[in-house]
Amino acid sequence: MQDKIKDLNEKLAQAQLGGGEKRIEKQHASKKLTARERVQYVLDEGSFEEIGALVTHRTKDFGMDKQQFYGDGVVTGYGTIDGRLVYIFAQDFTVFGGSLSETHAEKICKIMDLAVKVGAPLIGLNDSGGARIQEGVRSLGGYADIFYRNVQASGVIPQLSAIMGPCAGGAVYSPAMTDFTLMVENTSYMFVTGPNVVKTVTNEAVTSEELGGASTHASKSGVAHKTSANDVECLEDIKKLLSYLPQNNQEKPQALPYELGDELRDQLASIVPDNANKPYDMHEVITGIIDADSFYEIHKDHAENIIVGFARLGGKSIGIVANQPMFLAGVLDVNSSKKAARFVRFCDAFNIPLLTLEDVPGFLPGTDQEWNGIIVHGAKLLYAFSEATVPRITVITRKAYGGAYDVMNSKHIGSDMNFAWPSAEIAVMGAKGAAEIIFRKEIKDASDPEAKWKEKEAEYAEKFANPYSATERGFIDEVILPKDTRRKLIKAFAMLEDKKVDVPKRKHGNIPL
Ligand code: COA
Repeated sequence: MQDKIKDLNEKLAQAQLGGGEKRIEKQHASKKLTARERVQYVLDEGSFEEIGALVTHRTKDFGMDKQQFYGDGVVTGYGTIDGRLVYIFAQDFTVFGGSLSETHAEKICKIMDLAVKVGAPLIGLNDSGGARIQEGVRSLGGYADIFYRNVQASGVIPQLSAIMGPCAGGAVYSPAMTDFTLMVENTSYMFVTGPNVVKTVTNEAVTSEELGGASTHASKSGVAHKTSANDVECLEDIKKLLSYLPQNNQEKPQALPYELGDELRDQLASIVPDNANKPYDMHEVITGIIDADSFYEIHKDHAENIIVGFARLGGKSIGIVANQPMFLAGVLDVNSSKKAARFVRFCDAFNIPLLTLEDVPGFLPGTDQEWNGIIVHGAKLLYAFSEATVPRITVITRKAYGGAYDVMNSKHIGSDMNFAWPSAEIAVMGAKGAAEIIFRKEIKDASDPEAKWKEKEAEYAEKFANPYSATERGFIDEVILPKDTRRKLIKAFAMLEDKKVDVPKRKHGNIPL
C-alpha cells in the first residue's frame, strides 16, 4: 500500500507542475499567474477540490503519445468564494499553450454539468492558444460541446469568464455566451481572426492589442464588461461581482443586514442644474442614493451615454440603468440600447430588482444610427424592460422625452413604481423644438418671430416641462423630493419583495436581434 500511495503522490505532484518549471517561469515572466495560482487566489483558502487532475490526452499523432502532461492543460474543480459554492476551470498555458483538446473539453463539460445540476456559478479563466492543432476536428467538437452547455446554462446559473491570456478563433464564443467577460490589460486578447489573417484579407495592419486587447473590447466593441490592470485585480473583480448575484435563477441575491436609519440625502437636491441644457454626472445621483461604495459598474467605458451596474440599497442587491447627461446628453443610441438591454435581461434572469434613473432627451438622430438599425436595437431595450418581471422602479430626474420616455421603464411597459423629481420634464420633446413645430405659422407671421417663438416655448414648457401632467394621469405615482429618494426606494423595493407575475406559456419570446 505504501508504494501505491507514493505512486499516487508522485503523480499528483507532477500534475501540480503543469508544463514544468521552465514554462511556469515563462508564464511569470509575461506577468501572468499560473492556472493553479489563479484558482488558489480566487477561491477561499483551502476550499479548492480538484476534479480530473490526472486526465491526459488520447492523441497519438505527431508524436503526442510521447508528450503527456497530467491535467491536459486545464485545472478544473470546485470551491467556495465568501463561503459560497462555485465551479471553476482555469486553462493552463504551460501545457500545450492551454490549447483545447478533446479531453480538456471533457473536463470543462464535466464541471459545467455539475454546476447546472447543483445550481452554482461557473467561473472560466481563459488562457489558451485555441484548438489543439494536433487533434483537428476532435478539438472543434470539444468547443461545440462547451458552447452547447453555455447556452443550456444561460439564465440558470451565473457564468463568468475572465480572459487572462490569448483567446482566439472559436474559443471566443464560450466567453461571448457567458454573462460577463472580464479582461486583463496588456496580457489578454480576444479575436475571431488574428492580425496576420486580417492583414491578408483586408490589408489592415493592426497589432493584437489594437485588434482585441482589453481596452479595445472595453470601449469600442463592448465585448469586455470590465478590465483590470493585472491578474490579481481581475480575480478580485470576479469575487466582488459574484457578491451581487444569487447562486442560480431560483434564488435571490444574498442581502446584507441593514436597519433603516436616517435615509435623507440633502446632496441630491443640488445635482440637477437649473438650466435644462446643462449636463451633470448621473454617477452623483447614483452615489447619493445607494449604500456607500457599493456601485459595481459594468461596461464603464462602452456606450457611456448610459450607465449600468450593480449596487446595494439598504443591503439588497439591485441593478441600475441610468441615462448619463454627461455623454451625448444621455440620448439612447444603438450601443447604449444594446448595453442596457443585455443588463436588464441578466438582472431579470437572476432575480435582481431594477432601478432606472432617467434623464433622456430621446434617440440619437442621424443616418449612422438609422442605417445601423437603431429601430431594432432600441427595440431590444424596450423588449427587455417589457418582459422583465423583477421589481422595477423608475425615478425621472429631468428629461423624459419622446419614445425614449416609453422605453426607459415607463409605467406603461410594466414598471411597478414611477417617481419623478420636481425638475422632471415629461413631454414629446423639448419646449423649443415643440414650439417651432406646432406654432410654426404663428411664429412666421409674427412681427417679431424670435419673441413669438420664445413666448410659445414658454407656453409649452409651462404645460409640459414638469412632472405634473403625467402625475395627474397616474403615469407617475409620486413626485418626490430628491433628498427623500433613497428612503422612498428602500421602502418601495421592500414593498415589492414578493412580487409575482404570471407570464403566458410560450417556448420563448422573439426579441429583435
Ligand atoms: N495547439 C497545440 N499547441 C499549442 C497551440 C495549439 N493551438 N498553441 C500553442 N501551443 C503550444 C506551443 O507549441 C508551445 O509549446 P511548447 O511549450 O512545447 O513550446 C506552447 O503552446 C506555447 O506557445 P508559444 O507559441 O511558445 O507561446 P506564445 O506566447 O509565443 O504565443 C500564441 C501564443 C497563442 C499566440 C501562439 O502559440 C499561437 O499562435 N498559437 C496557435 C493559435 C492557433 O492558431 N490556434 C488554432 C486555431 S483556434
